[in-house]
Amino acid sequence: MARGRFITFEGGEGAGKSTQAKRLSHRLEGAGIATLITREPGGTVLGEDIRNLILKDRPQDPLTELLLFAAARAEHMTAVIRPALDEGTWVISDRFIDSTRVYQGHLYGIEPELIAQLERYTVAADLPDLTLILDLPAEEGLARAELRGTLSRYDAERLETHEALREGFLEIANREPSRCILIDGNLAEESVETAVWQAVSDRLLSMVL
Ligand SMILES: Nc1ncnc2c1ncn2[C@@H]1O[C@H](COP(=O)(O)OP(=O)(O)OP(=O)(O)O)[C@@H](O)[C@H]1O
Ligand SMILES: [Mg+2]
Repeated sequence: MARGRFITFEGGEGAGKSTQAKRLSHRLEGAGIATLITREPGGTVLGEDIRNLILKDRPQDPLTELLLFAAARAEHMTAVIRPALDEGTWVISDRFIDSTRVYQGHLYGIEPELIAQLERYTVAADLPDLTLILDLPAEEGLARAELRGTLSRYDAERLETHEALREGFLEIANREPSRCILIDGNLAEESVETAVWQAVSDRLLSMVL
């Protein structure tokens, strides 16, 4: 049994990550590939509890957040992601390491070396095979999140903050082109889906179909 592939969606609030994760899963299933959609923070009972804890009552120290997210990720990798990949399932995660790098690193100023070290322990060799970074002007993402009526505490932060986050994701896309593909998220859902499918076909499917 071939090991599954690991795909992550990244990008700012309202960029279309959850929408496109579902669409990609349907397409892959249509091609006969078993998929699992999961998310971070979350993905396990413990991880979802940690997510709710942090969203309810934000820690004062960004280090607290980093360590709680790292704990959730360790469990997520061991209990969900690795076993699924081992049995040939393709795993699609709605946010993963790049969100940590951008939020806890870029935005909250935690040293990249600490973040990288935690990644080495939690993710180890199981880095995503492909990361799709959905890029969108911050105003557009915020407008979408507002329309949806689910402004989280992160959404309430100022526009400049969201622009800084966007820059952080763009930097990662530029620095790691073999793992990351930048996708224009400011198009109709169907067009974004087409671009995502193109990326997955080019990078991953040519090897298995
Ligand atoms: N390409 C698109 N054009 C217009 N609206 C979109 C598009 N993609 C998604 N939406 C809508 O925008 C909102 C945000 O999309 P979605 O929840 O997929 O984003 P997200 O990146 O998962 O956001 P969050 O970071 O808040 O979880 C939803 O209401 C969704 O229906
Ligand atoms: Mg989402």
